[in-house]
Amino acid sequence: MKITVIGAGNVGATCADVIARKELVNEVVLVDIKEGMAEGKSLDLWQTAPVENYDTRLVGVTNDYKATAGSSIVIITSGLPRKPGMSRDDLISTNARIVKEVTEKSIKYSPDAIYIVVSNPLDVMTYTTKLASGKDRKEVFGMAGILDTARFKAFIASALDCSPKDIQTLLLGGHGDTMVPLPRFTTISGIPLTQLMDKETIDQIVDRTRKGGGELVKLMGTSAWYAPGAAVAQMAEAIIRDQNRIFPVCVELNGEFGISNTFLGVPVKLGKGGIKEIIEIDLDADEKKLLTDSAGAVRSVMDVLDGMKFF
Ligand code: LAC
Repeated sequence: MKITVIGAGNVGATCADVIARKELVNEVVLVDIKEGMAEGKSLDLWQTAPVENYDTRLVGVTNDYKATAGSSIVIITSGLPRKPGMSRDDLISTNARIVKEVTEKSIKYSPDAIYIVVSNPLDVMTYTTKLASGKDRKEVFGMAGILDTARFKAFIASALDCSPKDIQTLLLGGHGDTMVPLPRFTTISGIPLTQLMDKETIDQIVDRTRKGGGELVKLMGTSAWYAPGAAVAQMAEAIIRDQNRIFPVCVELNGEFGISNTFLGVPVKLGKGGIKEIIEIDLDADEKKLLTDSAGAVRSVMDVLDGMKFF
């Protein structure tokens, strides 16, 4: 079995690294447009195999999609990352062109693959791949919710000085400042977060989570890669091992949560074949409003893509 990772930048290479260490498939193909980049990173990762003791083969190619033929999963990380002061939405015109092109090139060789999008602006790039691939929504979706919940959990773990392993939470909405972390659906080993933390601290953590990607861009001058790479590898694992994991995933909504024709993060069951189920949950009035506002924010960037007349 084969997984293709398009884009051998920081996120793509980290994702390939985590997938190889988990030995999810026999082969990971890294593709990049920059001559030698994918070849070099995959060679470096393959030379890690004897040290870390895995046998997943890593192959790197420059723009050669033949090498990706027959992939079970295609992960799209291509495009420019954010620079300080940029919102994810500022990337749309450059990245939409790139994501459309790599989707069209890879689908020729892997028509049956499941497509996971990581490029930003995430929700609209997932829409781009959906349009460019023509595939069913259960096979085309985006990674953001696992990353955003991971940030939420990490901040809670630091504040409570407890293990992140014991934290369960849920986060909905777009991958941007309007995302909707849900303290009411957050527990620490079954104990509601609201019993362990005052409202002011929770509000601060929610706010920091919403701006979590931007905090890292400010610190590093480019966007994050360790947590994003690990998060997308976790989605690939759920699919390859048919785990039926429940994760927040960006998917096209057709009426669920009262929202239509919009790509948004919601809880889904992920396993063999991709999304097996979208799980609708009861939200209170405030949570519903936040989700509707987030959907509106994503929809307005989808409208920008529509206006570009790429499709
Ligand atoms: C972030 C980028 C990957 O949130 O969107 O770090």
